[in-house]
Amino acid sequence: MISEKMAEALNKQINAELYSWYLYLAMAAHFEDQNFTGTAKWLKLQANEEMGHAMKFFQYLNDVDKKVQLSKIDAPPEKLGNHTEVFEQVVKHELLITKNINDLADLAVAEKDHATGNFLIWFVNEQVEEVAAAKQIFEKIKMVNNVPGGFFMIDRELGMRA
Ligand code: FEO
Repeated sequence: MISEKMAEALNKQINAELYSWYLYLAMAAHFEDQNFTGTAKWLKLQANEEMGHAMKFFQYLNDVDKKVQLSKIDAPPEKLGNHTEVFEQVVKHELLITKNINDLADLAVAEKDHATGNFLIWFVNEQVEEVAAAKQIFEKIKMVNNVPGGFFMIDRELGMRA
């Protein structure tokens, strides 16, 4: 059995993952609107992953007999910039989510909650990958920032995401 405090923190993380889903969906719509379909595809796939993350927390709470409490999802930003600005935001957002996951892992240790600690290991590893992937894209985008047609090259590459 996990504590009420832990259940509350995990429910909060469901909201953070759903916000991530919403944020990446908004970014996808932003690039669809400019016909950067490859970038939009990458972001839609990323949004799907975020929904998957939310559902892992959802399932875990069910498994440990705690109620899933869904709360309001904040609206994503109305204004989004070019590739450089958006992917800088993606990196920042993933670093924030990494902090959330680390805080949850700290709480599990503090509460000697081995089940939740073990459950969170997958997310600790996933965040390493997510931050690395986002940073790699951001670094590439910075390289072509002032190259004519640079964003179209990036768009083609991002569109290759399977
Ligand atoms: Fe669910 Fe991108 O962290």
